[in-house]
Amino acid sequence: ERVSLIGAPTDVGAGRRGSSMGPEALRVAGLHKMLRGLGMEVVDRGDLIGPLNPEEKPVNGYRNLKEVAAWNGLVRDAMYEALKDGDFPILMGGDHCLAVGSIAGVAKHCHEAGKSLSVLWLDAHADFNTPDTSPSGNIHGMPIACLAGHGPKELTGLGHAVPILDPTNVIQVGIRSVDAAEKELVAENGLTVYDMRQIDEHGMRRVMDMALAKAAEAGGHMHVSFDVDFLDPSIAPGVPTTVPGGPNYREAQLCMEMIYDSGLTCSLDIMELNPAFDRGNMTAELAVELVSSLFGEQTLARTHSNRKYS
Ligand code: ARG
Ligand code: MN
Ligand code: MN
Ligand code: MN
Repeated sequence: ERVSLIGAPTDVGAGRRGSSMGPEALRVAGLHKMLRGLGMEVVDRGDLIGPLNPEEKPVNGYRNLKEVAAWNGLVRDAMYEALKDGDFPILMGGDHCLAVGSIAGVAKHCHEAGKSLSVLWLDAHADFNTPDTSPSGNIHGMPIACLAGHGPKELTGLGHAVPILDPTNVIQVGIRSVDAAEKELVAENGLTVYDMRQIDEHGMRRVMDMALAKAAEAGGHMHVSFDVDFLDPSIAPGVPTTVPGGPNYREAQLCMEMIYDSGLTCSLDIMELNPAFDRGNMTAELAVELVSSLFGEQTLARTHSNRKYS
């Protein structure tokens, strides 16, 4: 299988600058080489070129909406094209607002291929704010709401249909920061959420078993959207919105290995990596290591014998 790398160097959806440097940090950390080492063919399609960050104050509850919409249109088309070419696309963000375009592109592909779509959302945050609930106006806190049809038409209208995604096909893991009014939206919209308490109570093993069984039930294409702030900040400082109490190194590895075992993943986002907050390039290096597990890197001889659903 061929993997396509797509860079989206922007931070227009974030409150703090620097995730625009994310794609290059992943390249420097050897993402491409790692994938080739696993026997994959890899093409780096380079970086998309979109508008600069105007650093606006919120207007009607949104910061930089025009630029966010422009970037998302580019990302949608790039993800869609890569899937159409038969590739496994990896979006190298960029802030998490770009998940709207990424998943819009994937959803269009799935719609045309007659496949159902589920989204595994690894994040400290639910990213289900609307302008009424957002404390910041930063659109990286709103992508799941936009995909579910709640948001400005510039974003909700980017897909093949409105809503772009049925929110009951979203499975979130690692959640530990949800704004007060955002909580109600998450409950009303029927997302499946495994927050840190469930990881504490059941362990990563059982949580991922449940999460992946749910995705397998939907069948078809699973998209993984990996917000690097999912990880505990002690191992992953290179993000703009750290939240303490996230998965540790071992839990994160098991999570990624189980995603590989599921055999369900057809596309991936690596988002919110922000070298301006990193120590050296350690967070990018960790992300590459974790993504290697997601693609089947194993300590012992590589085997597919654990694969569950494929
Ligand atoms: N909930 C906060 C907000 O809406 C933080 C969102 C952080 N999102 C992210 N993708 N890092 O502003
Ligand atoms: Mn987050
Ligand atoms: Mn996020
Ligand atoms: Mn597919």
